[in-house]
Amino acid sequence: MAVPEHVAIIMDGNGRWATKRGLPRLAGHHKGASIVEGIVRHAADVGIKYLSLYAFSTENWKRLSDEVSGLMSLLERYIAEKLSALKANGVRLRFAGRKDRISLRLRAAMEAAEAETVDAGGLQLIVCIDYGGRQEIIDAVTALVADGVTDVTEESISKRMYLPDVPDPDLVIRTSGELRVSNFLLWESAYSEFYFTDTLWPDFDDAELDKAVESYSSRDRRKGGA
Ligand code: IPE
Ligand code: IPE
Ligand code: MG
Repeated sequence: MAVPEHVAIIMDGNGRWATKRGLPRLAGHHKGASIVEGIVRHAADVGIKYLSLYAFSTENWKRLSDEVSGLMSLLERYIAEKLSALKANGVRLRFAGRKDRISLRLRAAMEAAEAETVDAGGLQLIVCIDYGGRQEIIDAVTALVADGVTDVTEESISKRMYLPDVPDPDLVIRTSGELRVSNFLLWESAYSEFYFTDTLWPDFDDAELDKAVESYSSRDRRKGGA
């Protein structure tokens, strides 16, 4: 079976999961964060090398300040609580997104986590925080201009994306039934396969990931060829 090297997930539906249970939206985010560890382990077990998780978009700042600050604290707590387990499992933790709007404390935790796992030989877990595909392209173009590049090519742009050494995602999964990309990996997903499921992110499990990988492996990726 063809296993995707890089899987990217739009983890959507936390709010609806909570609302359905009469719980505050943040309870859904907590439940959603709690399943990440198992999915990371299973992804590594099936042979996935890179797992990108969309945790907070450049548009998510529009939410009520309580939800935004709750999500930021959750991220901080996640790093503090899970870093040693990730390290023990050989996971390299990386982040993609704008850095300038993240609190200094969270940023310091993110940078420390990246530094501590930089030599890990296992799966690379990329958490996308304050990430927007358009913003990433703007940042790359800004860098091109600053570097005085006039010969603009796919390569010269790719080299200036947030994580230029990470291969493009082979498979993009979105949970919760929404059929859109919501500004995720716009440049990198040019030839990705997409998999949509109605399952809400807090209910996503190993079997769901297997189904997505099976669907991927049955597809013919022509990439423009005949
Ligand atoms: C995804 O769940 C998590 C983030 C976007 C941070 P949502 O919070 O978007 O959940 P729904 O879409 O409202 O159900
Ligand atoms: C996309 O989900 C962003 C993340 C999962 C972090 P949203 O819930 O923000 O997307 P829309 O608003 O439904 O497009
Ligand atoms: Mg949503």
